[in-house]
Amino acid sequence: MIVGWNQEEMNNVFNISLLPGDGIGQEISVEALKILEWFSENTDLKINVKEELVGGISVDEYDSPLTNDTLKNISHSDAILLGAVGGPKWESLDFKKRPERGLLKIRKELDLFANFRPAIVFDALAESSTLKTEIIKNLDILIIRELTSGIYFGEPRGIEQIDEENKRGFNTLAYTTEEVKRIAKVGFETAKARSKKLCSVDKANVLESTELWREVVTEVSKDYPDVELSHMYVDNASMQLVRNPKQFDVIVTTNMFGDILSDCASMLTGSLGMLPSASIGTKIESKCNAMYEPVHGSAPDIAGKGIANPIGQIWTGALMLDHLGEKEAAKSIVNSIEKTLSTKEHRTKDLQGTSNTMQCAKAVLDNIN
Ligand code: NAD
Ligand code: IPM
Ligand code: MN
Repeated sequence: MIVGWNQEEMNNVFNISLLPGDGIGQEISVEALKILEWFSENTDLKINVKEELVGGISVDEYDSPLTNDTLKNISHSDAILLGAVGGPKWESLDFKKRPERGLLKIRKELDLFANFRPAIVFDALAESSTLKTEIIKNLDILIIRELTSGIYFGEPRGIEQIDEENKRGFNTLAYTTEEVKRIAKVGFETAKARSKKLCSVDKANVLESTELWREVVTEVSKDYPDVELSHMYVDNASMQLVRNPKQFDVIVTTNMFGDILSDCASMLTGSLGMLPSASIGTKIESKCNAMYEPVHGSAPDIAGKGIANPIGQIWTGALMLDHLGEKEAAKSIVNSIEKTLSTKEHRTKDLQGTSNTMQCAKAVLDNIN
């Protein structure tokens, strides 16, 4: 295994922080690591991986889901590759100590405001979806989720005692013009490079924060006359995603709506275990501005069984290489994923296959070679 930092100033040498996290995060990140190591050993690309603790495993070790030392270390890497955090063991802890807070802190501290969640259906998998083949065949959509604001971070928040018997739990959903503007620009730029269609999803009929969202997105659209903008309420969008997902190309939406819609979109591809994601911020000096994280969680119901689908995590590693400029390596991983899943032999249980995590990941590696 490759450990430690390489100080060489070469643009094909990358220092990666690997944060396996909890549950299946441990099982799938080790498989993604094997693939990164293969590239490091067999190509010009050199990847130095340093593991760090985040989530429940960090709570157990340091009584905190993310220590200041870990945050400092990872913010000096070229990119962060995360597995998943959370699990029943830590669910009753005080909110501030929960594993999820560690992940949210990384996103916030590194200002990773744009989360790209592509949902792509491989031909061979179209039949394994719970939806009719013709509805999802050739689907290739992208959800861009605002990641550092909205109800996840709004203040005030908390649980207060209002009388002897009653408490009140509250959160704040707020967006500023600037926050909407920057994610809208990411949406338009991305749409411009794809099919020039952008759908902004909000709840502007009920929530003022997203009334502003719609207003700002519309204003930004004036700079992108070649991109066709549509607006949709989130309740309708969730229905349309299942009814006719191919009507969408790029969707831009708030933090919480993006969280929900991306899990929904994952099932169009066959399994939540398939979806990769990239969380990107503005590049400021040498500070790390990117974390790569699968869409799914730590899957406590299957953790420890060795049956988790490793594809979302491996694909997430490919997104990372792509954004680091290693397009060829990234492409060869995605091609290999497609080839691996083209027959039932190497699919995991969530895709009605019989392979375990290691066998599926090994097939991806063998197909790269
Ligand atoms: P989950 O995504 O962990 O699991 C939902 C369902 O999908 C489960 O049945 C699970 O077995 C299945 N699944 C998920 N990934 C899979 C994979 N790779 N292969 C096969 N099946 C897979 O969501 P949950 O159960 O609501 O949450 C469990 C824990 O994970 C919670 O603590 C939650 O906070 C955390 N979580 C973390 C992240 C993250 O770290 N990015 C994301 C979502 C949830
Ligand atoms: C995700 C997860 C996280 C989120 C949790 C674990 C904080 O569900 O990345 O989709 O809600 O953002
Ligand atoms: Mn989620």
